[in-house]
Amino acid sequence: MTTPICSESDLREFLAEAQADLGQARDEAQLEAVKVAYLGRKGRLTGMLRALGRLDPGRRPAAGKAVNQARRELSEALRRRRAELREERLRRSLEAGQLDVSLPGRGDARGARHPISLTMERILDIFAGLGFGIATGPEVEDEHFNFEALNIPPLHPARAMHDTFYLERKDLLLRTHTSPMQIRYLQHRKPPLRFVAPGRVYRRDADATHSPMFHQVEGMVVDEAVSMADLKGLLEKFLEDFFGPGVEFRLRPSYFPFTEPSAEVDIRSASGAWLEVLGCGLVHPRVLENCGVDTKRYNGLALGLGVERLAMLSLGILDLRSFFDNDQRFLAQFRR
Ligand code: FA5
Ligand code: MG
Repeated sequence: MTTPICSESDLREFLAEAQADLGQARDEAQLEAVKVAYLGRKGRLTGMLRALGRLDPGRRPAAGKAVNQARRELSEALRRRRAELREERLRRSLEAGQLDVSLPGRGDARGARHPISLTMERILDIFAGLGFGIATGPEVEDEHFNFEALNIPPLHPARAMHDTFYLERKDLLLRTHTSPMQIRYLQHRKPPLRFVAPGRVYRRDADATHSPMFHQVEGMVVDEAVSMADLKGLLEKFLEDFFGPGVEFRLRPSYFPFTEPSAEVDIRSASGAWLEVLGCGLVHPRVLENCGVDTKRYNGLALGLGVERLAMLSLGILDLRSFFDNDQRFLAQFRR
């Protein structure tokens, strides 16, 4: 069927009809259908343009002009309606997205503090209460701070007690204990002093009570006439604050090159077995001399606590590796 070429008034009517159809399109899909009906390959306006060819040559220019004008108007009306529909869609989605404050909440998924962080915090709180300052230092150390200044020369058999992770640069290593903090702290301060130094330490160790990365808290007192009795009193005070009165512990003679005499402390666990939690002793005078301390006047005590061991005992954990598995069901138990 061919669409006849119509008079100007017919074209007006045709346009009005198209506008009405556009107005009735409720969404972009319906708008697309109207576009196809008029301007598509088989659309009404396209039919008119084709029919121009069959016209009398004399009438063609005027008729062509009129039909093209109608097409421009239709395209413009289509563009306007499309913009209108887009705006409407946006307005509707904004309305639908309004916050309904009366809806019930979805529950909170708060994280939990890590049990090692909680334990560390308790340890430091107790020492802060006893007047100890807090200091931190680097995890990457050199042999001077980690060994030599602590009276552990190269080839000393005590180096075998620390299965050390060395870095590529020969004299750099991951600190094997927090004791280098004794040296770093003393270097820049004058006694009398007392401080604790918490932090991560590293050793080639791995079993139920040893982890390759673990935490220690170093404690040190430098003053006049410090004695083993002071050390024992401090340990008793700390352990009773931490575990509660009645905690069973023993001070066992031991050896460290940087203390003399030296001891280790074991705690009786729920199963009845003893578990070592710390090393300690009176600071070797050579360590103090290495830091320029007047050893005729001052001496000191030092201790190095294993934080994971204290956490195992106080929380009843049998395998310290569970602290590092990142199992949320395990970790969430210690939420506080
Ligand atoms: C030391 O590291 C000494 N620097 C402690 C010290 C400080 C002695 C000051 C004297 C004066 P030791 O190697 O024993 O000592 O380690 C101290 C504590 O760290 C141990 O008692 C234990 O509780 C903990 N510990 C040691 N190795 C590991 C490990 N691989 N994983 C978890 N905890 C560990
Ligand atoms: Mg030990």
